[in-house]
Amino acid sequence: MPKPSIIAIDGPAGTGKSTISERLAEKYGYLFVDTGAFYRAITYVVLKGNVPYEDVDAVTAVLSTLNLRIEHDGVSSYRIIANGEDVTDHLRSKSVESHVSPISKMTVVREALLPLQRKVAAQGNVILAGRDIGTVVLPEADLKLYIDASLSERARRRHLQMMDAGKEADLDTVVNDMQRRDKIDTERSLAPLTRAEDAIYILTDNKTIDDVMQEIIQIIEHWTAT
Ligand code: DC
Repeated sequence: MPKPSIIAIDGPAGTGKSTISERLAEKYGYLFVDTGAFYRAITYVVLKGNVPYEDVDAVTAVLSTLNLRIEHDGVSSYRIIANGEDVTDHLRSKSVESHVSPISKMTVVREALLPLQRKVAAQGNVILAGRDIGTVVLPEADLKLYIDASLSERARRRHLQMMDAGKEADLDTVVNDMQRRDKIDTERSLAPLTRAEDAIYILTDNKTIDDVMQEIIQIIEHWTAT
């Protein structure tokens, strides 16, 4: 069997999902897309336009004229272009960070992003990471992985990352922010974060990125051999 052409990777924030997906993309020469970037780009556009984000009609109007594109400049590196503006460097800003969960739970937003995500996947040899890739976006994906870690472990990792990046961060605040986002992501009515029945579950507590990579490479080799 050839390798799985479409790989869906889901799980909550802070599990190492993006780093692992990037490494897998480099190893296999697959394109990688972190779909959270699309939700973040929409959030950025909504906030920049001072659009009241709880107003469905106002957000729908923004979406109706939105031109969102992804331009890869390497298998796992890309720029996100919204209405002609390269918004990539704004996607991790504090304001985007604190508004992306409520905005991404809106039905109009999720529906607007479905075709774009499916179009990217249709190229084949791709890894898409997110929250609902295996359940909603690509239920027919060849291989589905659900990468998880306990809340305390995810917060510890995110806190370290922020300190390394020179950002001020207090561990309790990181735990609370993560818990708030987990709650919105898992309790929303449309496409909540949940493991697809046929996804392989990988718990990453007490494992290094290399350990998890080894585990996934074995899964892919096993998939290819059967
Ligand atoms: O993975 P991330 O932190 O960049 O995701 C940002 C937000 O986008 C997160 O709160 C959940 C949402 N998201 C989503 O609802 N569905 C996806 N496929 C990807 C992200």
